Amino acid sequence: MNIQKNHSLKKYNSFSVETKSRYFCQIASNDHIDALLEWRQQSRLPLLLLGGGSNILFINDYQGMTAVIKTKGIVIVNEDSNYTYIKASAGENWHQFVRWTVENGYAGLENLSLIPGTVGAAPMQNIGAYGVELADVLYELEAVELSTGKRKIFSQQECLFHYRDSFFKANAFGQYLIQSITIKSPKKPQWKIEYSGVKESLKAQIINAETISNSIIALRQSKLPDPVVIGNAGSFFKNPLLSQSKWQALKELHPDLSGYPQADELMKTSAAWLIDQCGWKGKRKGNAGVYKKHALVLVNHGDASGEEIWKIANDIINSVNDKFGIKLEVEPRVINC
Ligand code: EPU
Repeated sequence: MNIQKNHSLKKYNSFSVETKSRYFCQIASNDHIDALLEWRQQSRLPLLLLGGGSNILFINDYQGMTAVIKTKGIVIVNEDSNYTYIKASAGENWHQFVRWTVENGYAGLENLSLIPGTVGAAPMQNIGAYGVELADVLYELEAVELSTGKRKIFSQQECLFHYRDSFFKANAFGQYLIQSITIKSPKKPQWKIEYSGVKESLKAQIINAETISNSIIALRQSKLPDPVVIGNAGSFFKNPLLSQSKWQALKELHPDLSGYPQADELMKTSAAWLIDQCGWKGKRKGNAGVYKKHALVLVNHGDASGEEIWKIANDIINSVNDKFGIKLEVEPRVINC
């Protein structure tokens, strides 16, 4: 394992923010994982595990070790009458994994096409789009406990998935390195095409994993920016969950506000709509801004610093709070050493 000092992370975060890590390495094998854990025990410095860096904002330099997970491999591990079980290593690119399943005739991941990031990062925030979450398709995952080096299998239930949340994000943050995930691909798929825009874009095509995946790719490309072209971290805010009383009061004032019923009588509403109503869509402050086609996405127009992006994020939180009395929660991890 090759350890570098004061290494730039610009290429390793999808916001393309210039920032440095005091130590840096890439993890491509189990031996590298063991070496990393040993290094960590000896140095006692903080450890930041990075996948595609697509859900992170660096406000300043990182004072510990950044380890980028690069392990590769996709393999069919089991099959029964209902499912095919497919295991993918943490360092695989998420979208390439989705396309591998689609092109090999396996259903289940098609709605999650074109989500940036890696396989290992997907369970952290239970990635979701167009009516499907990772929780719906994950069978189990394998993780290494950082303090002991022990490998552990987590069943789907043990991952404690919720909307953009998991055991690894909420309960055991920084305690595990996710090594691989195993998904279960149904042999008799129930296609999810009810989400607004999906059915329309399928038009008269035959409905299968390939056509749904292609439609989702086109939909995402039509309204979300490609991080290779313009730095961003996808949705910067979570859709807020409102109590029934708060929801009723808002809906009376704003009949066009959309709401999606959740567990515990909560109502999920659209953060993009709230931000849009405050006039933020397409606004720019220096090199940081709000994407012109989607109010939930903050973008780096050039050489924005993490601080500039964080400033606009906080201005948005304050104006939504002032206008609607709702405090938006940030979705990506914010590193502020
Ligand atoms: N809307 C606006 N203004 C905008 C954009 C959207 O008012 O600029 C309103 C519209 O009424 C629209 C509604 O918001 O109908 C919902 O918009 P959209 O379908 O784009 O979904 P979203 O709730 O804004 C979520 C995920 C996205 C995911 C889409 C599609 C979160 C935080 N975001 O966005 O995930 O792609 O649904 O399923 O849950 C990501 O996590 O990075 C991400 C892009």
